[in-house]
Amino acid sequence: MKFKLWATAWVLALLAVLVALYFHTAWTGVDRPLGQGAYDASVERGEYLARVGNCATCHTTDKGAPFAGGVAFRTPFGTLYSTNITTDSETGIGDWSFEAFYRSMKEGVRPDGTHLYPAFPYTAFAKLTDDDIASLFLYLQTIEPVRESARANALRFPYGLRPLLSVWKALFHDASTYAPDPEKSRAWNRGAYLVEGPGHCGACHSPRNLLGAELYDQALTGGIYFDKVKTGAYRRWSGVNLTPSSTGLGKWSEEDIVAYLKTGQCKHAVVHGPMNKVIMNSTRFLTEEDAFSIATYLKNIPPRSHSADPPPAAEVLKAGEIVYTVHCGSCHLPSGLGDDILGVSLSGSAIVQAPDPASLLNVILYGPHLPPPPFVVDRTRMKMFGKRLSDEDIASVATYVRASFGNTAGAVSPDQVEEQR
Ligand code: HEC
Ligand code: HEC
Ligand code: HEC
Repeated sequence: MKFKLWATAWVLALLAVLVALYFHTAWTGVDRPLGQGAYDASVERGEYLARVGNCATCHTTDKGAPFAGGVAFRTPFGTLYSTNITTDSETGIGDWSFEAFYRSMKEGVRPDGTHLYPAFPYTAFAKLTDDDIASLFLYLQTIEPVRESARANALRFPYGLRPLLSVWKALFHDASTYAPDPEKSRAWNRGAYLVEGPGHCGACHSPRNLLGAELYDQALTGGIYFDKVKTGAYRRWSGVNLTPSSTGLGKWSEEDIVAYLKTGQCKHAVVHGPMNKVIMNSTRFLTEEDAFSIATYLKNIPPRSHSADPPPAAEVLKAGEIVYTVHCGSCHLPSGLGDDILGVSLSGSAIVQAPDPASLLNVILYGPHLPPPPFVVDRTRMKMFGKRLSDEDIASVATYVRASFGNTAGAVSPDQVEEQR
């Protein structure tokens, strides 16, 4: 086992050198230098794109200066930290040329040739137009310089070896700019650009392979995200299916999607977890037109779903129905349909039916993580059930809601509940 791992690492390292050489020679630079009129770009446009791309959220710690980095990301390969992207010339990117910045967004490479981890979503940002990358660069040049060195990553062997990323990129990274589909409307294409490019929705909403690359043939059918909680531990969340399937946004209208992205709630859902920061720091700033474009796109891609859960057993469903009647039915109603003041509808809900039940279990265990003011959630508050119900009870009620009210998702085990505690 150990020998195999080493042998694989060596083969990969050799490949890495070859591919790195290729990349080194393949880079042809930017078409045009950043000068007067060369790009249709502005600081304001860059600020808007930085919001859509949520650069600040990933590059600012709770107490740190804006864009100074240091935010921890937990991945299956270990923990890594975002870096300083302020204009400080020593610890930030103040010395970077436009070409260097352009290349980092397109190919995930530093000026000295070091490969960057795709936790920096350049796999999505590569789709940006040259004008938009130029705008982002102009905006980042207006950020106050802050001296803050990068924190050392804690990645497992061999993932700490950056040259290996060249192999990863050769396999999984496509650096080409978004190409509009001439068969589709302007709004659809704008939505596709925002979702796949700056908005990088797939980072949390698409499943990934064993090497952490998004599976494009199952794009937006649901992914996983680890969020840090107050105790310093990480909690697993499932990004839901965003395609218009019956386990995704099938029941949502375009207006519902716009309301959710701009205010954190609509008649189908209230924001509960990591999506909070996405809405608070990013999507609520979308122009009305851009928010509608995203909705148009999400409602007009092929409905898809994936699930690996076992089908529920009859006894579990029966036990779950009892827990539901006692603890949930008063608000979500026996029909599961909820109402405007009490619980939201659980019928056709994307959180309830997500391929991985993590988000559903978090809602039941910990209650809502509602957005802070100025947001007002005009419903009664859901309680936390973590202390009131056992793992078995929560597994059975979760299984019950996933398979009732027209829902079609698989069973949840008590072990999965325990993992979320
Ligand atoms: C999902 C989190 C995330 C988002 C969103 C994000 N970044 Fe980053 N970024 C990172 C991480 C993590 C790194 C460090 C990668 C590494 O060390 O290999 C990084 C590194 C970078 C770097 C390389 C700097 C260096 O030398 O280490 C640049 C430039 C950058 N980001 C710019 C941006 C811009 C511009 C945006 C918004 C359009 C953005 N990032 C959005 C997580 C993010
Ligand atoms: C940092 C990870 C992350 C990113 C990036 C992200 N999401 Fe989410 N999203 C989640 C998670 C996790 C949930 C489910 C739990 C919650 O409410 O936070 C969710 C929930 C949602 C829901 C609500 C589904 C429901 O039934 O409650 C919609 C709609 C949505 N996201 C759309 C988007 C769009 C559009 C984008 C891109 C602009 C996006 N998300 C980017 C993590 C993310
Ligand atoms: C006191 C009323 C109340 C009770 C009891 C209650 N809920 Fe809720 N539930 C809500 C409300 C209200 C929301 C919307 C978020 C919020 O404001 O808390 C919600 C949200 C949810 C969601 C998230 C739906 C989405 O897409 O946003 C799920 C899942 C859920 N409840 C399941 C349950 C289950 C299972 C039980 C029983 C163990 C339960 N609820 C008990 C009121 C309640």
